[in-house]
Amino acid sequence: MDRTRAHYERFPFVQGGGRRVRHWQRRLRPFLPDAVVRGAVVLDAGCGSGEIACGLADRGARVVAVDLTSAATRRTRAASPAAVICQADVLRLPLPDRSVDHTVSIGVLHHTPDCFAGLCELARVTRPGGSIVVLLYARLTPYHTLYSMTAPLRRRVPVTALDRAPGWWWRVVRLVVAAQVGRRLGDDQLKALIADQVFTPVATFHPAREISRWADALGLVVYRRKKLFLHANLVEFRCTGTAR
Ligand SMILES: C[S@@+](CC[C@H](N)C(=O)[O-])C[C@H]1O[C@@H](n2cnc3c(N)ncnc32)[C@H](O)[C@@H]1O
Repeated sequence: MDRTRAHYERFPFVQGGGRRVRHWQRRLRPFLPDAVVRGAVVLDAGCGSGEIACGLADRGARVVAVDLTSAATRRTRAASPAAVICQADVLRLPLPDRSVDHTVSIGVLHHTPDCFAGLCELARVTRPGGSIVVLLYARLTPYHTLYSMTAPLRRRVPVTALDRAPGWWWRVVRLVVAAQVGRRLGDDQLKALIADQVFTPVATFHPAREISRWADALGLVVYRRKKLFLHANLVEFRCTGTAR
């Protein structure tokens, strides 16, 4: 946990600006439609750049945002001034049971020491009938392979080496990333992306059947799942009121 906190304080998650805000509004709408979000208290657990919180607030949600790092809470405060924001661990949320209507947590639980405990905590704070939408890294994807293959690099090279990488290396990386994401990223975006995708100290990978087992154990229903081919599953759980 300390290593993860230090990592994201030093290299906070990529900022994608209005484009990323709109991207996540589109992505989340099938899970949390406008009519469901408007006026609802929505927790963004692991708010990072604050762009998902911003997109929810623009759709009329009353946002509560939490992140392990002060870098993230600062950015979220700037992106979403009306949100209630606090620096906290998603494994020990400073929120009462059943205190939020819905929860989103995009790309966060798999960076904690215990993904299942994180889901358990989200289920504790979400009211019965509410949705919990999480993005979790999937097993056996191109990104899973990349993260496994770069383990020796992570052991030998500190993330701060990115600050000293030569210009030609960044030019090559920029071209490779542009081929994947369809556009050229700026210097800061590129650095934050490589720091997150390659150097993040903890990343775990979870097959769909493991996620279903967690849901059963917590009295949640897997209501919807979207497979993101390159790296992840986006999953909506519904709280049934029998959650432990
Ligand atoms: C990959 S970023 C995703 C950020 C954000 N959800 C987004 O998509 O813009 C992961 C974020 O999770 C946060 N994080 C990691 N472990 C956490 C924990 N135990 N509790 C709260 N936040 C955590 C990191 O600080 C970082 O901001």
